[in-house]
Amino acid sequence: MRDAYIVTSLRTPGCRRAKGSFKDTRPEDLLGFILNAAVERTPNLEKKFVDDVMIGCSFPEAEQGLNIARLVTQIAGFPVEVSGATVNRFCSSGIEAIALASLRVMAGWSEIVIGGGIESMTYVPMGGNMPRPHPEHTKKHPDLYTSMGITAENVAKRYKISREDQDAFAFQSHAKAAEATAKKLFTELVPTPAAKFVLQKDGAYKKEAFTVEYDDGIRADTTVEGLAKLRPVFAADGSVTAGNSSQTTDGAAATVIMSEAKVKELGVKPVAKLKYYTTVGCQPDEMGVGPRYAIPKLLDIAGMKLADIGLFEINEAFASQAIYCVRELGIDMSKVNIHGGAIALGHPLGCTGAKLCATLLANMRERGVKYGVESMCIGGGMGAAALFELCD
Ligand SMILES: CC(C)(COP(=O)(O)OP(=O)(O)OC[C@H]1O[C@@H](n2cnc3c(N)ncnc32)[C@H](O)[C@@H]1OP(=O)(O)O)[C@@H](O)C(=O)NCCC(=O)NCCS
Repeated sequence: MRDAYIVTSLRTPGCRRAKGSFKDTRPEDLLGFILNAAVERTPNLEKKFVDDVMIGCSFPEAEQGLNIARLVTQIAGFPVEVSGATVNRFCSSGIEAIALASLRVMAGWSEIVIGGGIESMTYVPMGGNMPRPHPEHTKKHPDLYTSMGITAENVAKRYKISREDQDAFAFQSHAKAAEATAKKLFTELVPTPAAKFVLQKDGAYKKEAFTVEYDDGIRADTTVEGLAKLRPVFAADGSVTAGNSSQTTDGAAATVIMSEAKVKELGVKPVAKLKYYTTVGCQPDEMGVGPRYAIPKLLDIAGMKLADIGLFEINEAFASQAIYCVRELGIDMSKVNIHGGAIALGHPLGCTGAKLCATLLANMRERGVKYGVESMCIGGGMGAAALFELCD
């Protein structure tokens, strides 16, 4: 197999579903912007050099349906020959797309591929606009349709993750994200144009543009006391709240991957390589445990130990499951989500895997870390994990 090099990895800010800065910005526009930004920020890359664009999306319907990857390459001005595919593995869709893009280059099937992710949870709500579970199979497998919040409650109850610990974890997520924003450490974040509809004197609404520079879900004033006051959202006797759950979010991310020959030809300095990627199934009604199984499986394939990994991005779908996985695996918490996670920064479902790739690589560069792991749990009962190696 050939090497596949990541040369650029970027993301838009993550903005709150329905309340945030991207609530009037269509997913096609978010994705088109970040794809163009990825090309523009890669020296000597032209759109016509890109072979294929693979985009993760968890609910590829309505405004983000009809194979959004193909639609957006055309909307964003890529030549007609540049193809596009939409990839879905729910919360790992974005890294799944990057892995598929890398594999194509590794196999020698492509020279330059973009992998990425898009999710507008404002335009397409979690679960989609019209979920239609199978009437007979739901009776035998109701667990496959368990709400994500209930799976988080199940993890908290089964593995005794206390409300206090969940809230303390959520507090840290906001504190770290607020500090990183203040210090301008999210170097992978590209200020992104957004739309708003402004009421005119004649009563009509006019679409206007503005720029979004920051993740707008971060609550710098979060306190443990404030979090403790929030009521459970998913179960009356539960411990999972709006404060210790990931935020529902709009966002897009893109990563440019190319062969060694193209790296040399274009004179690009590669950032990293995706070395290994794996997925694993687990019980659907406690899907949050996914990383606890995916990370050891990944390390086994790579022939590495936990101690070899300098940084982790473990998606904070919920504090309960993130705490469980980190504790069970014995990961040093100081290496996990160093600039906060989805509780503060948001979890735009199908984009998250691509967003975490961009963040992890920026953090690995910032800290000079050779090996980093990204991992997440996945609805339906799965975990995914990816190992990145920073280039010298
Ligand atoms: C839990 C959930 C239902 C809450 O939705 P929501 O009510 O829209 O959540 P919000 O972020 O708007 O917070 C609601 C309120 O809680 C309070 N709150 C939230 N975070 C807080 C914090 N850190 N500190 C203090 N109060 C907080 C606020 O009062 C807030 O209202 P405001 O925005 O008007 O200030 C939603 O975030 C969710 O479903 N998350 C999980 C998503 C998921 O399952 N993803 C897939 C995982 S696999």
